[in-house]
Amino acid sequence: MNYKKPRGTQDWYGDSLEQLNEVLSILNSLVKAYGFQNIMTPTFESLDLFKKSVGDTTDIVQKELYTFVDKKGRKLALRPEGTSSVVRAYVEDKMFANKSNVTKLAYFLNLFRYERPQNGRLREFHQFGIEYLNVNSHLNDIECLILAQQIINKFNLSKYIQLKINYLGNFEQRQLWIKELKQYFVKYQDQLTDDSLQRLNINPLRILDDKIDGQKSFVKQAPKLEKFLNDEDNKIFKEILNCLSSNEINYFVDDSLVRGLDYYTGIVFEFVYKSPVTELESTLLGGGRYSHLIQQTGGPDQIGLGFAIGIERLLLALNETNYSFKNKHSLDIVLGFDSFKTTTKCLSMITKIRENNYCVEIDFGNYKKDKNARFAIRQNAKYFSFIDENDLKNNVIKLENIKTHELINVNLDKLVYFLKGEK
Ligand code: HAM
Repeated sequence: MNYKKPRGTQDWYGDSLEQLNEVLSILNSLVKAYGFQNIMTPTFESLDLFKKSVGDTTDIVQKELYTFVDKKGRKLALRPEGTSSVVRAYVEDKMFANKSNVTKLAYFLNLFRYERPQNGRLREFHQFGIEYLNVNSHLNDIECLILAQQIINKFNLSKYIQLKINYLGNFEQRQLWIKELKQYFVKYQDQLTDDSLQRLNINPLRILDDKIDGQKSFVKQAPKLEKFLNDEDNKIFKEILNCLSSNEINYFVDDSLVRGLDYYTGIVFEFVYKSPVTELESTLLGGGRYSHLIQQTGGPDQIGLGFAIGIERLLLALNETNYSFKNKHSLDIVLGFDSFKTTTKCLSMITKIRENNYCVEIDFGNYKKDKNARFAIRQNAKYFSFIDENDLKNNVIKLENIKTHELINVNLDKLVYFLKGEK
């Protein structure tokens, strides 16, 4: 039987895993500087959580959820995103108790969406995300955007990125807008695609950012939310935009940006990457404010805010833009031996070297010098030494620098000091 990984999933090993770890360590150290602490949540949650938070009528819930019933008949779903779970944990564990200020949580999660797989779109994918919980000022929205832009800059991606931003208002304003949009789109029913026709009654906002219909002039001229916003909303949006400009963050106000999750209110944004290789655009990072999700999940009337960056898309972008990864697997030394006996006599010395965090490789059972030397070259080691019984007697080995072919005599019991001097 030949087994294959499920469609839309991938195995991580070698360079891809090294790159993932490097990217994560950069992201973690960036968010630490903003006071975020890490959180991990379960891979599956109750189905109802996602239906209520992401929204019953969204594509994610209607078409993309992996759901199952467990042995006790509980309806569960593999998480399609992190925000709902983080908010659930915040509420369930009463992280807000005895705390008047904001709670900042960062996460790295694997997520599941039944989508059509393609480059940068998977069925199991990963996000690095952050959430501010109990937000009291739109200065948090500004800081959140500064952090997102800092991530983009840190990975040298700014020249390939466009920040799209919009202001969605509150639920009441949105309901009025949706009502007006429905009335408007009904007049153009015959010009809408089947997908949009389906959305007309359940989620007409998605017609605005539909790939096909979004380009049609009657959709572009559809009623705007702007007219339902009050002076305070306009003031806040303006202040956020002004702060972006004064922090040298370029943006484009896109009034068709509604995002694919229902919980957003207020500011929403996407950092869209244009591939220099394929010229195709994809959203690398997306987020926004959610004013009701915490309360709707059973918690206090508090506001949340956050974003998530798709890790597979980030790695794709970094490889396309020739980002120089530092963390290439480095092998310090390959040791070869002439016999089983010589090998075993050196094992404790090898353990000592490894305790000092140097990488030592041995091709066990291969007692031929030439074959060992070829192995060292293939493994891209810095040094190679072939050790025989005589070397052990004299306590001196010949170390070859594989790049320069220089031969260096080193006392066997001083090998670790030699390597330390080298670094
Ligand atoms: P989202 O826009 O659905 O937002 O996803 C965020 C990012 O995850 C996307 O920009 C993309 O890079 C990546 N992504 C989404 N779907 C896939 C996929 N099928 N394959 C590969 N990558 C994908 C959220 O999930 C929100 N929870 C973000 C957020 C946090 N909002 C507030 N806080």
